[in-house]
Amino acid sequence: MVKSSTDKATGFEKCFEYINTVIFEDSDTASKAVAREVARLIREKQDNQQYCVLGLATGSSPKGLYAELVRLHREEGLSFANVISFNLDEYYPMEYDSINSYVRFMKELLFDHVDIQVQNCHIPDGTLSKQEISEYCSDYESKIEARGGIDLQILGIGGNGHIGFNESGSLQNSRTRLVALDYMTRVAASKDFLGLINTPRTAITLGVKKIMEAKQVILMAWGEKKSHVVKSTVEGEVSSKVPASYLQEHNQVTFVLDKEASSQLTRVQSPWLLENMVWTDKMIRKAVLGLALRLKKPILMLTDDDYIENGMSDLLAEEGTSYDINIKVFNKLQNTITVWPGGKPGSDDSK
Ligand code: F6R
Repeated sequence: MVKSSTDKATGFEKCFEYINTVIFEDSDTASKAVAREVARLIREKQDNQQYCVLGLATGSSPKGLYAELVRLHREEGLSFANVISFNLDEYYPMEYDSINSYVRFMKELLFDHVDIQVQNCHIPDGTLSKQEISEYCSDYESKIEARGGIDLQILGIGGNGHIGFNESGSLQNSRTRLVALDYMTRVAASKDFLGLINTPRTAITLGVKKIMEAKQVILMAWGEKKSHVVKSTVEGEVSSKVPASYLQEHNQVTFVLDKEASSQLTRVQSPWLLENMVWTDKMIRKAVLGLALRLKKPILMLTDDDYIENGMSDLLAEEGTSYDINIKVFNKLQNTITVWPGGKPGSDDSK
């Protein structure tokens, strides 16, 4: 089913995206917007004398968010006294004070700088014996349930579409558990562990089920290297191959992207498929080149039907015939070649 809705932030008509997605100029601005939403929720809960249960992520994506939350605490009096946090995951095995532990990460980036109560911070324990893990994981979930579930879950996304450490193949009803890390995940982590050989093979992760039960979810993704997985998550089918795609079935989720992470989305790649375009020369060139590449045809061989069947009939109506568009774009490209065989200098090659 194709959903058509309007992005509230941009007024953009969407019909390819199955997840509410907002694009910001850069990750800094985006992180600040997410921090404002987290702060709004914490304050709303405070006003109602309630705890605010946050699901937190580590990695590079939430660093700007945590920095802004610390600033809001220091400069604008945002209190974390009513916050209860549950982190998504931890490498296993992992000592608390190890340089790569998520306990250390959270302390250094957030917990040590705000007034959150230590007993309210929960991070999966990487020091347990293997025999203890299963019971520990079901206790972790019980603690979340005892607090009424997660109010807001913050997520990043792995290059393979993982959320938490729910790697490709994880089921939608998967529970909190010990998992084997994907090769791709280990390669991404290996720079922090000074090589693949030192990178853990396993981790404890919150299961997809608890993530999906969160009342609200915000997933952040920055940079071009996330653009392909963002596209398949937002526009592709729901599949265990890309566990983040399960979020299409969550009714309160927002993906927050910077420009680079959004660069493969249809609305960015082929905006003419989504809205009434004002066809500038630059846009015509981009669209025609894209069409030729997709259909594997030379530009001069594109037909009226090619344009009509690929959502560009308004361009055709505006410009006349495929011949007119083709030759216009062809000449533009040809004129960028300054030496032979770009055309005889001064000759009329517009037909
Ligand atoms: C970390 C976590 C992971 C990361 C993901 C993206 O707690 O759960 O799913 O969010 O691997 O990592 P970065 O943000 O480093 O690109």
